[in-house]
Amino acid sequence: MEQGKNIKRIGILTSGGDAPGMNAVIRAVVRTASNYGIACLGIRRGYSGLINGDIVELGSRSVDGISRKGGTMLYTARCMEMLTEEGRQKAAENCHYMGLDGLVVCGGDGSFRGAQALSRLGVPCVGIPGTIDNDIVCSDYTIGFDTACNTAIDAIDKLRDTMQSHERCSVVEVMGRRAGHLALDVGIAVGATAILLPERDMEFDQMIERMRAGRIRGRNHHLIIVAEGVGHAQDVADRIEAATGIDARVTVLGHIQRGGSPTVRDRVMATRMGYYAVKILMEGASNRVVVLKDNEITDFDIEEGLTMQKDLNECLFQVSKAVSI
Ligand code: F6P
Repeated sequence: MEQGKNIKRIGILTSGGDAPGMNAVIRAVVRTASNYGIACLGIRRGYSGLINGDIVELGSRSVDGISRKGGTMLYTARCMEMLTEEGRQKAAENCHYMGLDGLVVCGGDGSFRGAQALSRLGVPCVGIPGTIDNDIVCSDYTIGFDTACNTAIDAIDKLRDTMQSHERCSVVEVMGRRAGHLALDVGIAVGATAILLPERDMEFDQMIERMRAGRIRGRNHHLIIVAEGVGHAQDVADRIEAATGIDARVTVLGHIQRGGSPTVRDRVMATRMGYYAVKILMEGASNRVVVLKDNEITDFDIEEGLTMQKDLNECLFQVSKAVSI
């Protein structure tokens, strides 16, 4: 067993919306730490647990078999107190009191802001992107995205069977309040007639035109994917029905997309990122976020990482339109 340089004890927490693969991150962090003789504390319920001292000791055996499970064994929360100076001070004090030499935070950009604040208060923090939205600007991938896409595709394939039989239009709302990455990948994978995204203006008339043209070519069923951030799927369905007379039905996939056993991609990515996070903490890193860039795991300064630009893949959007006739 190698020894961790100057690091004796670290903490791990999951924060924000859960994502399949978070358990695999916890396992990788605990096992890597253990491999280097570093003790690991699990902080439950995100930053709330840090502020309220909701802590559990984690050893290699306490994370047996969790990689295949969705959710997070440490629970998660969106902690409003962490947005206040007082809450941050309390969280930092507790880290010092527990003797934490480092903290791994798995979550989205809000969670990384907390990690940034703690780093400034002398707690070396490393973030790992865990969200089904794939919207962490500096990373090509966020843990949970692949599983969420597959869950959505599975449900939509089933929906298509019944919509086809009834010759209806299916309007499916997928998650993504501020980002359409999930909607775009899912829409392409299920062969949607149109994909409505928060990052793009809704081309309603063009969509109706495409549906009409499709009908003339013999298409008896339509599938429209709407990202949550676009607005109410029911409004879209009502407008479609009014414009075309086609029976339009809405399905909101909702939180089902956040659950389930993680795919191989999410398990492997989670394990690679968890391992990497502990290694850089051992090297003295602080205020960093672990990312996937050009298929390599690397890391960025949190501030720099979060201010980078990540637009939707325009090329992919054009592909989706070209093949939806
Ligand atoms: O951050 C992931 C996400 O699933 C978003 O797509 C969605 O808008 C949000 O979480 C909803 O989270 P909750 O219902 O837990 O507040």
